[in-house]
Amino acid sequence: MRQIFLIGIGAGDPQHLTLQAIEAMQAVDVFFFLDKREETHDLIAARQALFQRHARPDAQAMVLNDPPRAQSPNYHQDVQHWHEQRAERLEEALMTSLSESGVGALLVWGEPSIYDSAMRLMRQIEARGQCAIQTQVIPGISSIQALAAAFAEPLNRIGEPIHITTGRALKAGFPADLDAVVVMLDGECSFTHVMQPEMEIFWGAYLGTPDQLLIQGPVMQVADEIITTRQQARARHGWIMDTYLLRRPLRLKA
Ligand SMILES: C[S@@+](CC[C@H](N)C(=O)[O-])C[C@H]1O[C@@H](n2cnc3c(N)ncnc32)[C@H](O)[C@@H]1O
Repeated sequence: MRQIFLIGIGAGDPQHLTLQAIEAMQAVDVFFFLDKREETHDLIAARQALFQRHARPDAQAMVLNDPPRAQSPNYHQDVQHWHEQRAERLEEALMTSLSESGVGALLVWGEPSIYDSAMRLMRQIEARGQCAIQTQVIPGISSIQALAAAFAEPLNRIGEPIHITTGRALKAGFPADLDAVVVMLDGECSFTHVMQPEMEIFWGAYLGTPDQLLIQGPVMQVADEIITTRQQARARHGWIMDTYLLRRPLRLKA
């Protein structure tokens, strides 16, 4: 049976690769790189640099072009269809490029369990029943942890829950029963939909890389600076990934 490692590689800092990840990389015969979009070539290059540094000299690298995602009004249906096509493409690559007893790997950005489809992709391949695989996940350092570390700021205050959401979900409003949210996958500065007096933001882009950007302060005061910085950085690099913690001031409970 083919063995597949999903290896969390951290969110940009090559030093965030764990010892477990390095050991797993040494066991891999073929690394599969999913080329997700034109503008993320820097991210592929980051994975390839890890491959050069930690893979065995005889290990192979195979780049698969990701199928394009439709942009219809039905987001969930589009994503489901996209994942099915992606599973077919990877399944074919596994069957043609990896021997039945071989070890393959996907290098997964950040932590594989957070907003990443690699585990679902493997389940889909397993469910299709064409290619027997055994999947093992190696955890990685998420951009969320990189954000907290960069600001030396805990994600929760004492006894508070931690809520992780997307820009799309935040647009509907700041959850009424929460005081802190971590926001990812936000292409549209959705914090501008929830600006309230005294709400603080800790915003980080390109976390863990030499281009890291950090802005912190009351969201009503720093929103314009984040929007401008974000636009300029995106134009410079051709892509941007940012994550932020938004929180209300501490409410002292009786
Ligand atoms: C598809 S999700 C992948 C998350 C990843 N699994 C993780 O654990 O960080 C992509 C989102 O992660 C966040 N992200 C990933 N890397 C980042 C980085 N280096 N700096 C800031 N945000 C990052 C951004 O919110 C981006 O839109």
